[in-house]
Amino acid sequence: MVSNNIMGYKEQIDLSRLPEHVAIIMDGNGRWAKGKGKLRIFGHHNGVLSVRDVVEGAGELGVKYLTLYTFSAENWNRPSIEVTAIMELLVSTINKEIKKLMQNNVRLNAIGDLNMLPGKCHRELLGAIEKTSGNTGLVLTLALSYSSRRELAQAAKNIALKVQQGELNPEDVTEEVFAQNLYTHNLPDPELLIRTSGEFRISNYLLWQIAYAELYFTHKLWPDFRREDLYEAILDYQKRERRFGMTSEQVN
Ligand code: IPE
Ligand code: IPE
Ligand code: MG
Repeated sequence: MVSNNIMGYKEQIDLSRLPEHVAIIMDGNGRWAKGKGKLRIFGHHNGVLSVRDVVEGAGELGVKYLTLYTFSAENWNRPSIEVTAIMELLVSTINKEIKKLMQNNVRLNAIGDLNMLPGKCHRELLGAIEKTSGNTGLVLTLALSYSSRRELAQAAKNIALKVQQGELNPEDVTEEVFAQNLYTHNLPDPELLIRTSGEFRISNYLLWQIAYAELYFTHKLWPDFRREDLYEAILDYQKRERRFGMTSEQVN
C-alpha cells in the first residue's frame, strides 16, 4: 500500500488546478544569518539559493507567473551598508543567473519604482529583462523598491491625468481600468500568496492584486525554503475551497 507520506508533495499536486500566479514575500534572511552567528548579508546570499531552486521548481511544475518581493520601498530605510550589499548582490545574481534563465525559458520582469535603483543595478536589470523578453516559460517578476500604496496612488494619478486631458470619462473608471494602470497590468492576480519567517503581515505588497488570494504562512526562514516547500504550499492551496462570496453549495 502506498502511503501518502512516502509520496512527495509534487506527486500529490493536481496539475489541472495549479495556481497560475504565485506571489512570495521572501522573509527571514537576517534572522537566519543571526541564528548562525553571521552577518545579515550572509542570509541574503543564501536566500539567492532559495530563489534559484523555487524558480526552477515553479517552472518545472508549470506555474506561469512567480512574483517575488525582493526589496520594498521601505527597505531603503535599512542601514546603508545592508542596502548597498543587497544592490550589489542583485547585480551579481542577475549576471550569474541570466544563462540559467535563458536555458529555462524564463522571462524576467520587474515592478516597483525602478528609477530608485542605483544606475548599474537598473541597467543590468533592464538588460536582463530585454534579453529574456522572447522567452515563453515562467514569467518571473521581481518587486524592487516596491510599495503597493505608491503603485495605487500612481494609478490614481495616471487616471486623473487621462480624465483631465479628456481621454477618459470619470464614469469609465472601472476596476478593469484601474488594474490596467498598475505596474502589474500584464499579470493576472495571484491566487496564492506565501510568506516565510512566521510573520503574519502583508508589508505593503500587492494590496489590490491579492483581494482574493489564498494566504499561506510558514515559519521557515527564506534561506531554508526550497521547491518542496513551494509544492507543500500549493498542495495546501488545492485543499481550500475558494468561494468568492458564494456558498459552498454554489461552488461545488
Ligand atoms: C528578507 O529578509 C529580505 C529583505 C527584506 C530584503 P529580511 O532581511 O527581512 O530578514 P529578517 O526579517 O530581518 O530576518
Ligand atoms: C518585506 O519584508 C519585504 C521583502 C520581503 C522584500 P520586511 O522584512 O522588510 O518586512 P517588515 O518590515 O518586517 O514588515
Ligand atoms: Mg524581514
